Amino acid sequence: MFLQIKDITKKFGKQTALNNVSAEIEKGEFVCILGPSGCGKTTLLRTIAGLELPTSGQIFIDGKDSTYLHPAKRNFGIVFQSYALFPNMTIVGNIMFGLQQKKKSMTKQEMENKALDVLRMVDLYDHRNKYPRQLSGGMQQRTALARAIALSPAFLLLDEPLSALDAKVRHKLRTEIRSIQQSLKITAIMVTHDQEEALTMADKIIVMNNSVVEQIGAPREVYDKPVNPFVANFIGTMNFLQRSGQTRAIRPEQIEIVDHRDEHDVTVRIKHIEFKGVLTRIHAFLPNQTTMIYLDVPSEQIDDLQLNENGMLFLRLPQEHLIDYPQGAA
Ligand SMILES: Nc1ncnc2c1ncn2[C@@H]1O[C@H](COP(=O)(O)OP(=O)(O)OP(=O)(O)O)[C@@H](O)[C@H]1O
Ligand SMILES: [Mg+2]
Repeated sequence: MFLQIKDITKKFGKQTALNNVSAEIEKGEFVCILGPSGCGKTTLLRTIAGLELPTSGQIFIDGKDSTYLHPAKRNFGIVFQSYALFPNMTIVGNIMFGLQQKKKSMTKQEMENKALDVLRMVDLYDHRNKYPRQLSGGMQQRTALARAIALSPAFLLLDEPLSALDAKVRHKLRTEIRSIQQSLKITAIMVTHDQEEALTMADKIIVMNNSVVEQIGAPREVYDKPVNPFVANFIGTMNFLQRSGQTRAIRPEQIEIVDHRDEHDVTVRIKHIEFKGVLTRIHAFLPNQTTMIYLDVPSEQIDDLQLNENGMLFLRLPQEHLIDYPQGAA
């Protein structure tokens, strides 16, 4: 195991930012720390970097207790939401500056070669002599990424690196970051509050809420088997139904529309039909008239179904897709 976070608690005065957080990260893994604003994501990342010291608990890097190791000795690269480039230096100058600070044994020529290598990797070689303000947000963030990987760090820490970018650039950069991370086989830990980002990029997701870890698992695992209603709701959409003294949950895409209802099926009344691209989401009321249920149907099937708002629908909730939680949990 490359990184072990063991029972970390971090308090700022009376405020507990991390409450007994533990996680294990393997070499070469891409890990996303996912959770709502204020849950402690940045604090956890900064604690791993040594930029914050924990109130209690330990951090092991490569098996060695590194809880109180100086940040400069931890060998990480870091990329923030704000690109934090030097405005008065060219793109290649920004990267060489980082190398001059950290890699004193390199000759100037080696530094320049290294800087140009990483700029090719992030596809900015042709822009190397420009200044940050002459580049788009996405290009500036790629520069920040290049600056971090130029140092050949043992691990890469990314704090919401994509959140300042528009949707299209964000999607493209996700793929780029992931493929660079894989080709360098570098361990990466990225903070995000975007569940889609975490699901598409991560090998492993650490889901946090209110300073605690709620669940750690592969994307499919946290999506298919969320351990509690918080995780179920935070990642994707989940329907919660109170049935025979239990809270049962099911994803909108697992619900089937049937022509003939049998005793386990439910009758609902359609409230609203929402086109969402590939899928169409149907909002419907359960017989109690107050609980809303959502189901997703491939949009290409919608015409054949001849649905209309206020119309009745029979739904089947396949047993294998129902998740049970203790009563009242949701
Ligand atoms: N330096 C600090 N001094 C005092 N309180 C802090 C400090 N840093 C963080 N906190 C508090 O700790 C809690 C966790 O903050 P943190 O920045 O880790 O959250 P986050 O999950 O990164 O949120 P966001 O998604 O908004 O960036 C918050 O309540 C915050 O106010
Ligand atoms: Mg943060």
